[in-house]
Amino acid sequence: MSGELSPIDKAKFVAAKRATRYVESGMRVGLGTGSTAAWLVQCLGELVREEGLRIKGVPTSSRTAALARDVGIDVISLDEAKWLDVTIDGADEYDGNLNLIKGGGGALLQEKIVATASDQMVVIADISKQVETLGAFPLPVEVIPFGWQTTKALIEEMLIGMDVLGRSTSLRMNGESPYVTDEGNHIIDLHLNRIGNARQLSLVLNQIPGVVENGLFIDICDAVVIGYGDGRVEVRDIVKGEIDTERFDFLEEDNLFGDIAD
Ligand code: 5RP
Repeated sequence: MSGELSPIDKAKFVAAKRATRYVESGMRVGLGTGSTAAWLVQCLGELVREEGLRIKGVPTSSRTAALARDVGIDVISLDEAKWLDVTIDGADEYDGNLNLIKGGGGALLQEKIVATASDQMVVIADISKQVETLGAFPLPVEVIPFGWQTTKALIEEMLIGMDVLGRSTSLRMNGESPYVTDEGNHIIDLHLNRIGNARQLSLVLNQIPGVVENGLFIDICDAVVIGYGDGRVEVRDIVKGEIDTERFDFLEEDNLFGDIAD
């Protein structure tokens, strides 16, 4: 990712940079997973190395843990932290109530546990993640490997009674093999197109034996920081009831991934 940033990377970068203002020295911070969250980890690492920011980071995946250590963030487990001041993470979709679909990167279980154990959850995203109604992005559901085909069949049967537009499901693959999460589980993606009642679907999914957790984050997110390719950033904070916009300038050194080979 060397050289000039693409508009989408600029959008992710400015969202991440703006979101670092939610972080203060002494805080315990949940670190999300995915390409947008990776920008956040890079930005926080820079503040730790160059401005003396003192934080403890609780990563939501082995990938994020490795990156956080690489950039100089002090990494601790959730059990060591017990409770977090803020979690900052990406999302696959967010709606007007800041309900989310997450798990495109396969880390939804740790992400949900960490976000729920935080005073505040802030989502960083580009505007493409904004939707009127959740469901265009396939909903990830983490299931234990034992009897996964039976669990998948039970999910499909349950979907018949739900307010959704599509009902097909697929086991997430990693090449020829089923994808395996950090907890050793599999993911079934639900192709629903439109989810009429996300709260109900989330509750019902989690009652199916074999389902560990689903990627619907309902009433968990407090604010979304939306980045644009031209440097604009909009913050929508539903707790404070505030909307704030500003613009960031890009400097060559803003490509914090510049030293990483493409
Ligand atoms: C990982 C996630 C990610 O936050 C989500 O997939 C968004 O990723 P990206 O920022 O790469 O678009 O939920 O499980």
